[in-house]
Amino acid sequence: MKQPISPELIEKKLNRPKPRKFSRPSGATYPLTALSALKTILTILSQPLKSFRTLHDAALRDNGALVIDREYRERWSSSIADYAHWYYADKRLLHSISWLGVPTRKMLADLWVYQEIIHECRPDYILEIGSLFGGSALFMANVCDMIGHGKIISVDISRAIYGVSHPRITELTGDCASPEIIEQVRALVSDGTVMVIHDADHNRTAVMRDLSNYAGLVTPGQYLIVEDGIVDLFNPERSRLAKAYPDGGPLPAADQFAKQHAELFEIDMNRERFLLTSNPRGYLRRKYPSGTR
Ligand SMILES: C[S@@+](CC[C@H](N)C(=O)[O-])C[C@H]1O[C@@H](n2cnc3c(N)ncnc32)[C@H](O)[C@@H]1O
Repeated sequence: MKQPISPELIEKKLNRPKPRKFSRPSGATYPLTALSALKTILTILSQPLKSFRTLHDAALRDNGALVIDREYRERWSSSIADYAHWYYADKRLLHSISWLGVPTRKMLADLWVYQEIIHECRPDYILEIGSLFGGSALFMANVCDMIGHGKIISVDISRAIYGVSHPRITELTGDCASPEIIEQVRALVSDGTVMVIHDADHNRTAVMRDLSNYAGLVTPGQYLIVEDGIVDLFNPERSRLAKAYPDGGPLPAADQFAKQHAELFEIDMNRERFLLTSNPRGYLRRKYPSGTR
């Protein structure tokens, strides 16, 4: 039989001190009783175990796939070659990249590498042969702003869609193969250290011609970057882009140049450590004359 509650017990319950209330950031409050504190601690402690179990179960369910989130497993399922072709040759990404609103035809990792090279080598002049909209020239000018050093010489045969203006950039408009442009470039960079980027006509013979005209300007410790040798990596039977260069593109030109001038330039594969690059074997560093470093 149930015992009646004594008046003393009712009195004791009513006068029992209320639990302390703690404010939470949301403004809500909750009583921190010993029981709720214990529950909270147990919940926190069980989380890693719980999430590990969930991950583990999912991995088993998906036959040990490395990526266990279904959406990302699908998105990341292509090979680097597929991705590079999709990015660059199919132009699914290449034409969507911009720097501060200016279209820029680069692989993102290459822009990062440009930034590293400019910061490390601090060239007085960066000659960009081929600027198109001007995104890459502006990017380099802004990196130079940040380190407080460097000028860009932008050479392009056409300024029809070029849309950049920056105090560090000098534009020379004309065919980079013309003696006038070559002469103007030489005069502009004659008093400092020079880095050269070739990003103009990508046909092998044109690249060879331009490298023979401009590579000599690169000063020791600086880089000659031969852009877009990626076009030569793809199989012409499967890639429209590769078909566009039946006589080869920048990669065989860069290879031939590096071989012929091995005493002056070395290929810096460390600049390709992010794997995805438009410039395979295209980061050439000018050596210092022996005994000078
Ligand atoms: C691949 S786009 C440059 C892309 C740009 N550097 C960027 O990353 O956004 C090639 C550019 O080279 C220029 N070009 C092609 N042949 C040239 C030549 N013989 N002399 C100067 N510029 C040339 C084209 O007009 C075009 O703007």
